[in-house]
Amino acid sequence: MIKKTHFGEMPNGDQVACYRLTNKNNISVNILTLGAILQSWEIQGDPSIDIVLGFDSVDEYLADASYLGTVVGRYANRIANGQFSFGERSYSLSTNLNGHTLHGGEDGFHHRLWQVEQVSDQDNPSILLSIVSVDGDQGFPGNLQASVEYCLSEDNCLQITYRANTDSDTVFNPTQHSYFNLGGHDAGAALEHLVQVNASQYTPADSLSIPTGNLRAVSGTAFDLNQALSVAEIIAKNDPEINITSGLDHNWCLDDYAENQGNHRLVSSILEPVSGRTLSVYSTMPGMQVYSGNFIGEGTVGKRGAIYGPHHGLCMETQYYPDSPNKKNFPSSKLCAGSHFISRTDYQLTL
Ligand code: BGC
Repeated sequence: MIKKTHFGEMPNGDQVACYRLTNKNNISVNILTLGAILQSWEIQGDPSIDIVLGFDSVDEYLADASYLGTVVGRYANRIANGQFSFGERSYSLSTNLNGHTLHGGEDGFHHRLWQVEQVSDQDNPSILLSIVSVDGDQGFPGNLQASVEYCLSEDNCLQITYRANTDSDTVFNPTQHSYFNLGGHDAGAALEHLVQVNASQYTPADSLSIPTGNLRAVSGTAFDLNQALSVAEIIAKNDPEINITSGLDHNWCLDDYAENQGNHRLVSSILEPVSGRTLSVYSTMPGMQVYSGNFIGEGTVGKRGAIYGPHHGLCMETQYYPDSPNKKNFPSSKLCAGSHFISRTDYQLTL
């Protein structure tokens, strides 16, 4: 079932709609036309549990610096110094974090209105949203047409498909920036969630989270999450790189990546031990930023008056590795003129 409601207004008066997709198990997701935001993911019952952090109004989303629930673009994560080049031609991007570009620059996709292209009200309800980003937007080359499709399956899997094409070579790296708390968005810190990641390597980074370019084996380090560990246990290992970011905020090189998005495989799962709920992540992408919400402002007022703070949610951001446009040895995020980008990430909820 799909229900459309009015969510609010942009400062210029444009309307923001909310589409609520519900499956036969009474699981619902709310998708906003603002930022293609996943505003809620509710397990309806008594009580209902909402497993993503979010806000109740457009103004709160526009003021938010944590990208709660948004689709991030054109380039998720960092591009060093806001610079990259194709051959002789170099590009200067909007810089919005310590001289670097984060999540597509100052005016990324997360605070824009997306167009609704298609709504499919079936057993697996879905919505397709699109955005046009013109040549030079935030400094990126090429007129880019991009879309994201959310489908809520009958077995409680949120399937997300990104597509894009461009008329000039560019880079493209979209992701979903939801903060999951499987105990409920209002359940406090998610430090006891167990995190498992199928990755033999990660990308070590400097103090501003720019990768050094090396790929380092996780074996014998605090980054080895092949066996599940709680966020608290990982932080307690006192690893200098994890201390710098006050928790997890790093990119794992996911095993079994196939170029051309050919391998949609299980890459990670998180488990909330009290409820026993799990969220498994399947993706075609080469990397994933696991971010433990370290910089959510203390006392942030979220949905229905819930109070959020550091570590209240976990982001599982499938992506190309950070700064891949400047790292020749990383899988390439280049999107060539005339070619079609497609990637898929699924979040499978198990109750
Ligand atoms: C980044 C963090 C950042 C957060 C919110 C994450 O993807 O890696 O460093 O604070 O997004 O902006």
